Amino acid sequence: MARLSALVLALCLLVPQNAAFKLSDILPSLPSDLRLTWWLANGHSDGSKVPEGYSAEPWYPTPVAGWDDAWTESYEKAAKLVKQMTLAEKTNVSTGTGQFMGRCVGNTGSVPRLGLPSLCLQDGALGVRFTDHITVFPAGITTGATWNKELMHARGVAMGKEFRRKGVNIHLGPSVGPMCRKPKGGRCWEGFGADPVLQGVGAVESIKGIQEQGVIATIKHLIGNEQEMYRQYNPFQPGYSANIDDRTLHELYLWPFAEGVRAGVGAVMAAYNAVNGSACTQNSYLINRILKDELGFQGFIMSDWLAQISGVAAALAGLDMSMPGDGSIPLIGEPWWASHLTEAALNGSVPMERLNDMTTRVVAAWYQLGQDRGFPEPNFSSWTKDKKGLLYPGAVFSPSGTVNEFVNVQEDHANVARDIATEAVTLLKNEDNLLPLDGKTPLKVFGSGAQKNPGGANSCPDRRCNKGTLGMGWGSGTADYPYMDDPITAIRARASDVTAYLADIFPLTAVADAGDVALVFISADSGENYITVEGNAGDRNVAGLHAWHGGDALVKAAADRYKNVVVVVHTVGPILVEEWIDLPSVKSVVFAHLPGQEAGQSLAKVLFGDESPSGHLPYSIPKSEDDYPKSVDLVGFELGQPQDTYSEGLYIDYRYLNHKGIAPRYPFGHGLSYTKFSLGEATIVAGVSLSSAPPDAAPRKATAQSSYDNSRPPASEAYEPAGFVKIWRYLYSWLSRSEADSARAATSRYPYPEGYSTVAKAAAPGGGGQGGNAALWDTAFNITVTVTNSGSRAGKAVVQAYVQFPANTGVETPMIQLRDFAKTATLGAGESEKVTVTMTRKDVSVWDTRQQTWVIPNVGGEYKVWIGESSGSLSVVCSSTSLSCSLGQKSPVA
Ligand SMILES: *[C@@H]1O[C@H](CO)[C@@H](O)[C@H](O)[C@H]1NC(C)=O
Ligand SMILES: *[C@@H]1O[C@H](CO)[C@@H](O)[C@H](O)[C@H]1NC(C)=O
Ligand SMILES: *[C@@H]1O[C@H](CO)[C@@H](O)[C@H](O)[C@H]1NC(C)=O
Ligand SMILES: *[C@@H]1O[C@H](CO)[C@@H](O)[C@H](O)[C@H]1NC(C)=O
Ligand SMILES: *[C@@H]1O[C@H](CO)[C@@H](O)[C@H](O)[C@H]1NC(C)=O
Repeated sequence: MARLSALVLALCLLVPQNAAFKLSDILPSLPSDLRLTWWLANGHSDGSKVPEGYSAEPWYPTPVAGWDDAWTESYEKAAKLVKQMTLAEKTNVSTGTGQFMGRCVGNTGSVPRLGLPSLCLQDGALGVRFTDHITVFPAGITTGATWNKELMHARGVAMGKEFRRKGVNIHLGPSVGPMCRKPKGGRCWEGFGADPVLQGVGAVESIKGIQEQGVIATIKHLIGNEQEMYRQYNPFQPGYSANIDDRTLHELYLWPFAEGVRAGVGAVMAAYNAVNGSACTQNSYLINRILKDELGFQGFIMSDWLAQISGVAAALAGLDMSMPGDGSIPLIGEPWWASHLTEAALNGSVPMERLNDMTTRVVAAWYQLGQDRGFPEPNFSSWTKDKKGLLYPGAVFSPSGTVNEFVNVQEDHANVARDIATEAVTLLKNEDNLLPLDGKTPLKVFGSGAQKNPGGANSCPDRRCNKGTLGMGWGSGTADYPYMDDPITAIRARASDVTAYLADIFPLTAVADAGDVALVFISADSGENYITVEGNAGDRNVAGLHAWHGGDALVKAAADRYKNVVVVVHTVGPILVEEWIDLPSVKSVVFAHLPGQEAGQSLAKVLFGDESPSGHLPYSIPKSEDDYPKSVDLVGFELGQPQDTYSEGLYIDYRYLNHKGIAPRYPFGHGLSYTKFSLGEATIVAGVSLSSAPPDAAPRKATAQSSYDNSRPPASEAYEPAGFVKIWRYLYSWLSRSEADSARAATSRYPYPEGYSTVAKAAAPGGGGQGGNAALWDTAFNITVTVTNSGSRAGKAVVQAYVQFPANTGVETPMIQLRDFAKTATLGAGESEKVTVTMTRKDVSVWDTRQQTWVIPNVGGEYKVWIGESSGSLSVVCSSTSLSCSLGQKSPVA
């Protein structure tokens, strides 16, 4: 209660001081769900309801980082700097300065004495959030639908440049969790699709592109954040527990994180929810054992915004950075860390070895990305569009100054954005070759989604509405459009006879002439939980898997009147199309996904045939919601901690449908072209000779941190400097002289969690390098196949490679699993290209829970690698035993 009244007081103080800054404006723009966490206390009863078979084991201490060769130099530099830091300087680096206490959504404490600046952390995964003069790139799901590794990389490069020039040190992306396990999950669209390899490749290419620009990428959210509702802890209810068994975790959800760590990602973000009953921000097994030991992560892990629920326990469990720094109730100046972390180190609760490692990890990442050499300071404010404003809008008395320099960082990035949006366009159906259109055919356009939001593309903050062309979902993963190139504008520019009826109810006045083609725009939206749109609290809990705004009825009405109907879908994920897909006049269906700012020309290029469509579905489209396992439905209200148990194991999306023999409407990976491709001349070559388990990794090298003096520092290192004028409610790491002295003198012992230990553990068998044992990425087999354009128009083909494990290995595996893919260049009619796809040792292994490493279940057994244009259309198979390939085969699955 004392905390709540402090909160009320804080709110009252906030409002008059920041008159230009209404509370109602701030609340909606919070980077995370504060409407629940606002009422958070530290009541969290972990684990009491977790079903049998799932447990969060204690795993301490945190492995001390700096032993991977790729980071040696950065750790040497970091250790040199950290050795000179006082206690209060070290804890400053690990904690944010508080909500709204700086220009960015997160701002770390700095070490001015040693030249270490405050680091700026900023959303979002598709463009720089809360600012102008930027590019809004297509969302992750759209990028996944291109199946084009070069474009994924180019997007990362362009995005990295924009974040850098805005002065952002740490980009809060890419997102690979959720992985669309739940088709109705709110944030599936921020990632790359419903498959670990598609997610992994999307993450790796993004991370490389972003980090090549010197910006630290953040892979998120670790882990099991598959639904929005009930993800957060509050005084009445803990966040849901994602109960995931070890094998499922490794083979599905951890896979893209492992790939990201292997690519050298600098930061990881811990999710709001719990795993096996223990909150991700303080799950020692998840962070210490899996992330930092097995995956060998050398960077730092931060909390999602206000996801931290303890101080000392989180530090011991391996959390390195508290974001945005506040404790459970933001804006009252009470952090979990900052001064309290200083205190916890002085009184001996948090060992100095752990604190030194936390700080060193952050500083090492800063060096690793070269940010010590002329990295720009932020030149925009997340909190106002005006030039001048409050420097610390969350403070009671904040100084003002210039906060927006309006730096234009767009360069020519609209081209990359448009290329991605174009290559993502996925043609699901095209009867009678209705598409492409010729530009002369009279067009009747239906649906509000053809036109940008009439109120303005950014009129709904954080896109908290589904009005006009849906270019992205809603929440913290958004950015403000510099403009929206909408479909109707692009269509009018291409076609001579266009009549637009831009409403979602079929107009009585619609005229139908013979020869007309009707273009019907429908959509499905979702987003983050702190905003509810049309009753949907992030997840599609009300809308389900149907198109919004009566989209099915609109299509049916158009199909009634017109002989030739093209349906264009802007969507966050799969939708059900059964009500109209087989109607004879619904001849063409195109998924444009979430195109970002380049929604118009990208679509027109495909509709009017400048380019053949080459997008492929990043998920399956089922015929009914009942085709999915029950366990992937949204978890509803429960007293106590809601339980989200992954009882379907490895069987999600196509893995499940194949397993159950359920034919989808459109399989994962499906996508048509205006031309035809044929696969021929396939060869398979073996790489390294395989053994059941990977060879043991070399022992870890010593880290630069081994030269630290880890004894408790004197209290004077925490003293607040005399005469320092504090900003009220800003988070500082100093203690008063008396607080520091009494903390240093404390003799009582912290009640350490069960299983706590300070003795370093033996390294995980599956570990070794960044991402795991380096031998896991040895080539097991390469398959080369010749793709020929056997049709009459130019186009790009996507080649997908799925592994089928040998029968009777004693280990059940999904029938087929995507392991690699490639996209050709544009091939003219008759032209060919050879593409190579790779199976690594990991690709032919399963996670062995007993040995705690990747194991090939039958080294001499016959692995089949199926190659084709979708998971449901695989015509080439290569065998690991005969080392030969056969063409013209029947797909192993429907
Ligand atoms: C969850 O529980 C299972 C079963 O005890 C265990 O194998 C797995 O490692 C646990 N995962 C985490 C992250 O604690
Ligand atoms: C902590 O960071 C703040 C904000 O950058 C800075 O004002 C303060 O001096 C720093 N404290 C120490 C101990 O360096
Ligand atoms: C703003 O951006 C420019 C150009 O990227 C950069 O040089 C500058 O350091 C940034 N910061 C400020 C405070 O202007
Ligand atoms: C040390 O300080 C921390 C942070 O304030 C506190 O949680 C902990 O209980 C203290 N430990 C002891 C033994 O006083
Ligand atoms: C497999 O292909 C990759 C990529 O083209 C190549 O780097 C590697 O050397 C090849 N390995 C074998 C064994 O052919």
